[in-house]
Amino acid sequence: MLKRKSIGLLGAFVLLIAIIGGQAKTVPCKLKDVKYGKVCVCTADYCDYLDNPTLSKDDDFAIISSSKQGLRFELNTGSFGSKDTYAIEDYVEPASKFAASNDTILSKLWDQAIDSIFSQSATPASSITRSVTLKLDRSKRFQKIEGFGGSFTGAVSYLLNNFKEQDIQDHLYKSYYAADGLGFNLLRISIGGCDFDLNPWAYNEEPQNEVVLTGMDKLHERDVLRVGQIKRMKEVSGETNLRIKGAAWSPPKWMKTNNEWTGFGQLKREYYQTWANYHLKWLDLMESNGLPIWAISTGNEPLNGIFFMFFVKFMSLGWTPQMQAVWLNDYLGPTIRNSKHKDIIIFGNDDQRFTSPLWFKMMNRTRPNSVDYIDGVALHWYWDEIFGNSFIHKTNKYMENKIQIISESCIGDKPWQKAAPLLGSWERGEKMARSMMSHLQDGFHGWIDWNIILDEEGGPNYVDNFVDAPVIADTITYTEFYKQPMFYVMGHFSKLVPEGSVHIEAVASNINLDCIAFIRPDNKIVAVLFNSGRADLDITIVDTIRGELKVNVPAKSIHTLYYN
Ligand SMILES: *[C@@H]1O[C@H](CO)[C@@H](O)[C@H](O)[C@H]1NC(C)=O
Ligand SMILES: *[C@@H]1O[C@H](CO)[C@@H](O)[C@H](O)[C@H]1NC(C)=O
Repeated sequence: MLKRKSIGLLGAFVLLIAIIGGQAKTVPCKLKDVKYGKVCVCTADYCDYLDNPTLSKDDDFAIISSSKQGLRFELNTGSFGSKDTYAIEDYVEPASKFAASNDTILSKLWDQAIDSIFSQSATPASSITRSVTLKLDRSKRFQKIEGFGGSFTGAVSYLLNNFKEQDIQDHLYKSYYAADGLGFNLLRISIGGCDFDLNPWAYNEEPQNEVVLTGMDKLHERDVLRVGQIKRMKEVSGETNLRIKGAAWSPPKWMKTNNEWTGFGQLKREYYQTWANYHLKWLDLMESNGLPIWAISTGNEPLNGIFFMFFVKFMSLGWTPQMQAVWLNDYLGPTIRNSKHKDIIIFGNDDQRFTSPLWFKMMNRTRPNSVDYIDGVALHWYWDEIFGNSFIHKTNKYMENKIQIISESCIGDKPWQKAAPLLGSWERGEKMARSMMSHLQDGFHGWIDWNIILDEEGGPNYVDNFVDAPVIADTITYTEFYKQPMFYVMGHFSKLVPEGSVHIEAVASNINLDCIAFIRPDNKIVAVLFNSGRADLDITIVDTIRGELKVNVPAKSIHTLYYN
């Protein structure tokens, strides 16, 4: 009795110290088997976090690992210079699950056993170990990172509002934006509505045909909710330098040639200045409501209102590059640069990569100075599998010393993809890893994902446009949400790579490893190691300063290595 009590007291004492010391942050993932793989479950009372590792000695390293099998931000530590290989053990199902004598479980195991016998030839369990050498050279430096983020759409705002308990909403915010979450610092929001809203909307729908825009003197009721939520997100996550990028999908209908939200419609010529003022007033409005804006774009997917209206049923504003060059050069550019918001970043294109080289070429041809108003290019990843990296290379000559980011990405947008979320899919996580790797290797400065949360169907929105998201809400009870493999994959890039980190040279000796490395502003090194193969992999890391380190990583896994 006495013993138990004293342990209890001691335990409470240790816990108290840990909380006071701010160290009680790391909470493991509550793993759950779902239809297509595994997710981590969060409720109001429980959500997983990983406190960022600290390196106390010069030779220390930390490695954070996730795998198809079930590792989620597993932390291991060690030091350089050891001759031994550090083995990252893959996740193993807890023994208790197997020990339980229960007909349902037993028959499930039997089914799995039969299943695995028959699928042997399709997916051989590999017994070979592959190997690779990775050379890191911090003296060879490339682009500087702006950061990573997600998007706060009307659909996100709606779902969060339905989670009645503030604690679970806070867990979502912290999961993405806190240091013990993914450490995100970028956020994209729509100026007015977008495709992920419950209805199309814009500022100043009323009064119509009114260029003074008196309807923009206060927040739209939908933004009263959303701005409040984003401010809460900033507060609970402790992200003091949240950088928000705004983009408009459509002006109020009265400014458009077709007087509709969607379809073949452009800005009426008499409202070119009004639409520039609309952006300026929105910047004022956000700032005066406590959300200063970092960047805007020239408009979301401009070709949707020119060519793609047969496929795209959501809000859009059509621009040809020639029309947009005139608007940017003669209206938006001077309006912004002569205002108190003159230092805001303006992104161009905000569309699929296959459009961007021709887009800037035609803009430059129409108004040679128009591209000077642009600080960077924002691209959407949706057609990257068809249109290769050469499109971004061709855009580069217009983008010298400018920022290149992905401003929208999600999976499940194509008719041939199973559109609804594939809950737990590691393969979708891998798809994301490949794309993030390749863009960052190719000089990109940042990555903004699409909706930070969606429902089980991949919505809601007013156009039945269903896609996947890194976090999925349980909208039957609104008491749980699920972090998918995609969530952790993004974290492997974002968590230890803060704004200001610089891409450094990392060369793998063969294709068994995909890798990118950075030097952080505090001079620590971060390398993202991706083993998409079915075999485990011996990686010999050779750093020009730190020396050698051998790690063995499991099949189908991704890692963030962190050292001095
Ligand atoms: C057996 O396990 C299932 C869940 O896997 C559970 O629903 C059921 O209640 C269990 N039955 C017994 C007798 O423990
Ligand atoms: C933009 O157009 C001007 C001529 O109007 C040309 O000299 C320049 O090379 C063009 N810029 C690019 C990057 O092609």
